[in-house]
Amino acid sequence: MATRADGCKYPPKMASPTTFAPTVFVLNDFTEVEREVAQRFAALAQAAIKAKGRFNVALAGGSTPKGAYARLANDFRDRVDWSRVHFYWGDERCVPPEDAQSNFAMAKNALLDPLQIHSEQVHRMDGAAAPGSGAERYAEQLHDLPRSADDFPVFDLVLLGLGKDGHTASLFPGDTAALENPAKRWVLPGTAPEGIRDRLTLTFGTINASSHVVFMAVGAEKAAPLRSALTVKSPEVPASLVQPTTRPAEWYVDHAAYAEMQ
Ligand code: 6PG
Repeated sequence: MATRADGCKYPPKMASPTTFAPTVFVLNDFTEVEREVAQRFAALAQAAIKAKGRFNVALAGGSTPKGAYARLANDFRDRVDWSRVHFYWGDERCVPPEDAQSNFAMAKNALLDPLQIHSEQVHRMDGAAAPGSGAERYAEQLHDLPRSADDFPVFDLVLLGLGKDGHTASLFPGDTAALENPAKRWVLPGTAPEGIRDRLTLTFGTINASSHVVFMAVGAEKAAPLRSALTVKSPEVPASLVQPTTRPAEWYVDHAAYAEMQ
């Protein structure tokens, strides 16, 4: 398990009766973040496979996780029974799966193809479908996952990134539909403020039901959103609303991203 560069790490402490303060691992550089996240992923996979014969993980998109995925495909190829791992996504851009901007395509190239993962283990969000129907259809793919007490599907691990505006997955600042979610939807359409605007995303309820949540954030451009995500609890900082119900979220960051906390 990684520890902060100075050897200190926050112990899990209750931030409030129902949430935990996050555990933050500050590492020397991006390479160390990739190594530690790959190590954590493999350890959680091994434990879940030993306990129940299967590991259900929701992958993060964007660019930050790519190196960690490549490490898993190389350094951990022989250290995880990959035939027992089922791959889902935390979010997707509404583009075809072969589009270079697809989160599926990034993981396929970095992780799934190198490990020769069988298609029945890959549960892709259909970015090519209309966002509304795509979200409903993806929720149907989550029915074979265990359920939490408040009836959300439970992943063993949800990997997340952090956007410069404090978004995570495709949960963006001020997205009231995702915030309210009165129907307790598991997957919702999202709208990004720029770039590929139509998205699909797991909801806060689904993410917070996960057994483990691991964030990755590196680089100076993530220093301000990381400080916000760790110090406030606001709809304007969606990452701050990721409050797993069973244990602290884990943040793996480099010194540059952690600069405004030091
Ligand atoms: C996406 C991601 C998104 C990402 C952050 C960080 O579809 O873009 O799911 O939530 O994790 O925007 O992106 P980078 O890792 O590229 O900085």
